[in-house]
Amino acid sequence: MKILSIETSCDETGVSILECTGSLKKASFKIIANNLNSQIKIHAPYGGVFPALAKREHQKNLPILLERTLKDAKLENKTKPVDLIVVTSGPGLEPTLWTGIVFAKELAKKWNIPVMPVNHMEGHIVSVFGNKKNKFTIDFKKIKFPILSLLVSGGHTELVLSKKIRDYKIIGETLDDAAGEAFDKVARMLELPYPGGPEISKLAERSRTKEKQYFRGVSEALGPRGSAGVATPDSDPEKIRFSFVLPRPMLHSKNFDFSFSGIKTAVLYLIRDLKEKDPNILQNENVKEAIALEFENAVVETLIYKTKKAVDMYNAKTIIVAGGVSANKFLKEEMKKVLKEKIVLFPDMSLATDNSIMIGMAGYIKYLEKGGKIPKNPKIKADGGLRL
Ligand code: KG4
Ligand code: ZN
Repeated sequence: MKILSIETSCDETGVSILECTGSLKKASFKIIANNLNSQIKIHAPYGGVFPALAKREHQKNLPILLERTLKDAKLENKTKPVDLIVVTSGPGLEPTLWTGIVFAKELAKKWNIPVMPVNHMEGHIVSVFGNKKNKFTIDFKKIKFPILSLLVSGGHTELVLSKKIRDYKIIGETLDDAAGEAFDKVARMLELPYPGGPEISKLAERSRTKEKQYFRGVSEALGPRGSAGVATPDSDPEKIRFSFVLPRPMLHSKNFDFSFSGIKTAVLYLIRDLKEKDPNILQNENVKEAIALEFENAVVETLIYKTKKAVDMYNAKTIIVAGGVSANKFLKEEMKKVLKEKIVLFPDMSLATDNSIMIGMAGYIKYLEKGGKIPKNPKIKADGGLRL
């Protein structure tokens, strides 16, 4: 069957058509057409996503992307081009989610086909089974449960346990900022453009390469590194590299929750103290690199430490890391090192940040799990806080 998928939960408008075949034993996907419009440049001057602007952009772009997608798929002259429409209904920004839902419902009415809501986070989870090529298969019989998913995006940081297909239990989550949000906020403090994740990562990587002889890696540092606060910062740019430690919050708490606002605040105070000594301190690339490195280390260490603890506790056989922050190279390398005895899955870079392919994949799996019984005209509501 052909599925048209629509994603508008944040600042990416995505429209794809997937040819989906098979069952919950083995499902195959072929990407017939895929179009994605990123609004990054539009939101960059605001240092984050501006919801009203995002909504307007989705409204403008959805018809354009749909036309292009149907044309790419050579389905533009068909009265019923696809069999099912799936659309992200949450979590995300409610105004932008509504734009996608209203558009999907109108199309479904016009083509007289069913429309089904999909949870954006479920899309991120299944994204690890896709790949760059336009054809891929999920062999469900080979998936080893329980699966522990670490979902790290701009809006979420969650650990999710799955004992079978489409069974999700959140066992831990952030109490304040999401990991991606912390990356974006710290990037802004460092006067780096939005989105901050890739920018911080680039700086940290440069610094890490320079410091290779000192740096031990998270796998070795996983011991009781503790929750040291910020040591007195040294404004000498040559010395700053090793003159401060950021906190690793909640590392030893008994649950699987996270907290990232403390790391963010520690960076804020560090920069404030440094600027008091030298107002132009951030023009020094060494200083920026050093802060980026310690920040990335703190976030990645915390994520890996908690994930490893949950893996041991629940005896997870497969670990999925997904959501925009899963594009972080250091997180990927270190997670694979620490969990080398396990199956560790990350999405292909092209599917790590928001896209509509993952929504189409999650939609087909949901369709199969529901036995193909989809109400023709369901009530679909945008839910910004939708949980798995
Ligand atoms: O999943 P996503 O595309 O959108 C949401 O659903 O939120 O995630 C976007 C987030 C942003 O906060 C961005 O800074 C972060 O993912 N991100 C990264 C990297 N690439 C994107 N964070 C760290 N390292 C990266 N390489
Ligand atoms: Zn996302």
